[in-house]
Amino acid sequence: MKLSLSILNCNLAKLEEELNPLYKNLDYLHMDVMDGNFVPNISFGADLIKSLRPYTSVPFDTHLMINNPEKYIESFAKAGSDYITFHLEATNKPKELIDLIHKFNVKAGISIKPKTNVSELDSLLPYLDLVLIMSVEPGFGGQKFMDNAIDKLKYLKDKQKDYHYLISVDGGINGDTINLVNKYTDLVVSGSFITKAINKNEAIEIIKNA
Ligand code: DX5
Ligand code: ZN
Repeated sequence: MKLSLSILNCNLAKLEEELNPLYKNLDYLHMDVMDGNFVPNISFGADLIKSLRPYTSVPFDTHLMINNPEKYIESFAKAGSDYITFHLEATNKPKELIDLIHKFNVKAGISIKPKTNVSELDSLLPYLDLVLIMSVEPGFGGQKFMDNAIDKLKYLKDKQKDYHYLISVDGGINGDTINLVNKYTDLVVSGSFITKAINKNEAIEIIKNA
């Protein structure tokens, strides 16, 4: 199981300073992009991702919580994303979006919100490099883990042998909730448990050693 650190709750004015001591322990950086439309909050865009890119070789896992994602795939690909994940609920043409992401040589992911049924992804599974199950309503860091994510992760784990996607989970992951998901997950996203910890590298170890 690998760890993707969500930078959402970092101090963006001191981002590089905060992340620099952590890079060596991180597998991915999770970039939460919010448009104030698909979700009730605004975070940051492709320029921030682009400006962080030269500082680390840690792969970037970009999570688009935006409407009209097709308009922005190119800029997030060119900013240096290794994975781009969009929301199933934000598009009527998910397969076209996956193909568009692949056209830029970026791995393609889909995410679903807590109320969306995981079986809605069935026909897309052959094409996906990552499936991201939301274990909170997207929009904010620091929320409580919703345990209906667990059955969705198990569902994806059962089907995974036929496909090549990574299973990821996002929202409310801490030193306790990690133990509910680690058996069914390849890539765990964690934000505030790490970025608000006094000893951040210790918090990273707690997640990675679960
Ligand atoms: C929620 C974001 C998550 C979240 C993770 O909309 O997609 O990535 O910020 O942060 P924590 O771990 O604090 O829930
Ligand atoms: Zn996220």
